[in-house]
Amino acid sequence: MKSNVMTEEDFALLKDLVRRELGILLKGDKRLMLHARVSHRLEILGLATYRDYYDFILSDPSKEELSTLASHITNNETYFFREKVQLDAFSSLLKEIKKEKQRRGQNRLRILSVASSSGEEAYTLNVVLQESGLFAWDWDVMITGIDINRNSIRKAEEATYTRNSFRSLNGNAEMLKRYFILDNDRYVLRKFYRKNIAFRHGNILDPGAFTGLAPVDVIFCRNVLIYMSDEATERIVRNFADCLDDIGYLFVGTSESLIQKTNRFAPEYVDGIIVYRKHGERGDKEAAIW
Ligand SMILES: C[S@@+](CC[C@H](N)C(=O)[O-])C[C@H]1O[C@@H](n2cnc3c(N)ncnc32)[C@H](O)[C@@H]1O
Repeated sequence: MKSNVMTEEDFALLKDLVRRELGILLKGDKRLMLHARVSHRLEILGLATYRDYYDFILSDPSKEELSTLASHITNNETYFFREKVQLDAFSSLLKEIKKEKQRRGQNRLRILSVASSSGEEAYTLNVVLQESGLFAWDWDVMITGIDINRNSIRKAEEATYTRNSFRSLNGNAEMLKRYFILDNDRYVLRKFYRKNIAFRHGNILDPGAFTGLAPVDVIFCRNVLIYMSDEATERIVRNFADCLDDIGYLFVGTSESLIQKTNRFAPEYVDGIIVYRKHGERGDKEAAIW
């Protein structure tokens, strides 16, 4: 069956659905882009028009087709050791977190990579964590990656990459060898760096995506809020505030900011970069740079 053309009206319906359900803003006239990326879904599903496709998504209680739509319109770009300055700040915060945990008599550490794509960010955080040596003995550690794209989750679980995932290493063969086993032209992450990591499918606008994870110590949510409406950002940030420990830290991408977008988090400088902490939970000290 040949798929139908996408009318302005179809586009308006789908654009609104994508904003409402996924939080993603399709800026400018993305009608041709949307048509090019999803027309095959109409054929696969045996639907004649985009209006049928829209109705199909709405009538699907499993929200599977919504996830499939998301995987066709979102950017999955990611790579290992992205934004080293943030990773260095994360590394120094691990020391603070450990001190605080020991003060509280706790031995549990939870980290989230939200919108984890194919896992490079979550595994990078694990490399930093393992190399810190701070949480090696008697610690209950878990890093969880969440993404709406099931293909990305599958790739993350495989932990097998190509050179494209290492662009920030500038061909540093020593680092590649330290973390990966070369299998033909593919790099398989060593088992040591795959432990204590789990990936799950979820829509981060939905509080259900975070079920069972609280309290979390650090959330990385980078390079996804940039695509979101302010309303969606507020919903996502509310979910973060609900599952983050009062002393926890939130990292967003270096080109993203929560300033003037939420009053749930306040910015704080760590090693010259901004991280966010829950507003008002630890007195007014941290709110000083607002
Ligand atoms: C550009 S990647 C970011 C990957 C990684 N955080 C990084 O910075 O390298 C954006 C990811 O966001 C995911 N995504 C988009 N909307 C989402 C949503 N509502 N819930 C969960 N994941 C979402 C996409 O599937 C994609 O994998």
